[in-house]
Amino acid sequence: MKKVAMVTGGAQGIGEAIAKRLTKDGFAVAIADLNVEKAESVVDDIKASGREAIAVCIDVSDQESFRDGVRLAAERLGGFDVLVNNAGIAPGSVIEEVTPEDFDNMFHINVASIAWGIQAAIEQFNKKERKGSEIIGKIINASSQGGVVGNAGAFLYSGSKFAVRGMTQVAAKDLASRGITVNAYAPGTVKTPMMLNAVKDIAKANQQSEDWALNQFTQFITLGRLSEPEDVAAGVAFLASSDSDYMTGQTLEIDGGMQFH
Ligand SMILES: NC(=O)c1ccc[n+]([C@@H]2O[C@H](COP(=O)([O-])OP(=O)(O)OC[C@H]3O[C@@H](n4cnc5c(N)ncnc54)[C@H](O)[C@@H]3O)[C@@H](O)[C@H]2O)c1
Repeated sequence: MKKVAMVTGGAQGIGEAIAKRLTKDGFAVAIADLNVEKAESVVDDIKASGREAIAVCIDVSDQESFRDGVRLAAERLGGFDVLVNNAGIAPGSVIEEVTPEDFDNMFHINVASIAWGIQAAIEQFNKKERKGSEIIGKIINASSQGGVVGNAGAFLYSGSKFAVRGMTQVAAKDLASRGITVNAYAPGTVKTPMMLNAVKDIAKANQQSEDWALNQFTQFITLGRLSEPEDVAAGVAFLASSDSDYMTGQTLEIDGGMQFH
């Protein structure tokens, strides 16, 4: 039977790779993003290879917008099985310079979105009939390598991604009896527009080349290379599949061995 997934922040970067991978795995995918033009162009790519996708315009930091987007996706794609809460932002922050606006922006987009997404997904999962101990819904949240161990210069970002893991663990416990699993993924340093902008900033701030800035990241990666978005998508595909049915509350680290646990 056809399965339906929504990927937030699916218009570019890791979210785009996840959306494309899930359609290859047989999902019909709703690509939910603020940037609906870019989301539409990912949909065009997916449709060109004969698979099913739609674009949905949502602001993940807004509870109503998220709920409406999930309702629309479920209606247009004929069900709802997996939510990937991928959208996020990663501006650096110097501790003394953080303003209430910086704090609100980071925590609304990276953390409140997890709450609004989970609520919206539950509304759809509640409509499904469950047989025995079957898993009827999966929620997969974007944390980060910096949400497992704090990253220097990422005061608010690391804090927000630690919060994601905490919410993932609580939701896993609270929703298990309804057949819903909740896991997180923690990418390392992934070649996406977000990361490439950070490299430019670091190069400029240190009056060095972009290669030098990139090397600041790669030197801590055991596997010796930056991550492609597809590396992360492969881990998320596992969390979205029935192969991970006996796994909940976990954070899957997909970081080339930046840190070991
Ligand atoms: N790139 C990395 O190295 C890296 C490492 C660890 C974790 N992550 C996490 O992975 C996720 C994806 O990162 P990425 O590098 O692909 O980012 P990106 O900036 O390249 O893409 C993020 C997407 O999210 C969308 N978005 C942003 N705010 C939104 C909002 N309020 N509502 C809806 N959509 C919104 C953007 O339009 C964009 O399409 C993020 O949660 C990020 O924190 C990334």
